[in-house]
Amino acid sequence: MNKPKHRIITIANQKGGVGKTTTAINLATALAAIGENVLIVDLDPQGNASTGLGIDRRSRLLSTYDLLIGEHGVADVVMPTVVPNLTIAPSTMDLLGVEMEIGQQPDRVYRLRQALSSPEAAEYDYILIDCPPSFNLLTMNALAAAQSVLVPLQCEFFALRD
Ligand SMILES: Nc1ncnc2c1ncn2[C@@H]1O[C@H](COP(=O)(O)OP(=O)(O)OP(=O)(O)O)[C@@H](O)[C@H]1O
Ligand SMILES: [Mg+2]
Repeated sequence: MNKPKHRIITIANQKGGVGKTTTAINLATALAAIGENVLIVDLDPQGNASTGLGIDRRSRLLSTYDLLIGEHGVADVVMPTVVPNLTIAPSTMDLLGVEMEIGQQPDRVYRLRQALSSPEAAEYDYILIDCPPSFNLLTMNALAAAQSVLVPLQCEFFALRD
């Protein structure tokens, strides 16, 4: 089957608590339930998508940090979840140091795009990227890697302003 054109979707909003992670988990689970092979990339150091999908912190030996640093590929990092057809590249707190480590590199914004252009990433029908509540290097990597962006928001005055 041909892959959909908008198969890498970043879920972002610099405002916190607006439903990014819940959207990532629910949309990914729904797609997996109709038989799509789905990968969630947890780019938030909080790791809520990973925790929400049952991945214990102690079992996260590698994470999206290793993808961004470039020392490991997608196949090394991913873990199965409790949901059939749904795989996750988990997050660890190491992500907090990414800006310090690669912030001076010319390709710093394209590290995730590079990792997701690999043959092992092409196995997935959909890749959903869950972002932190900040417009930082992690979110920039997610935006540069995606073909479309989903912005959950709350219908409140300050959410509209900022
Ligand atoms: N559609 C919804 N309706 C009502 N509550 C929701 C909805 N989506 C998420 N929530 C609740 O809102 C809270 C924040 O959701 P979530 O963690 O998904 O937001 P987030 O944008 O990922 O937060 P953060 O910016 O901290 O990563 C959670 O308690 C969640 O259960
Ligand atoms: Mg979140």
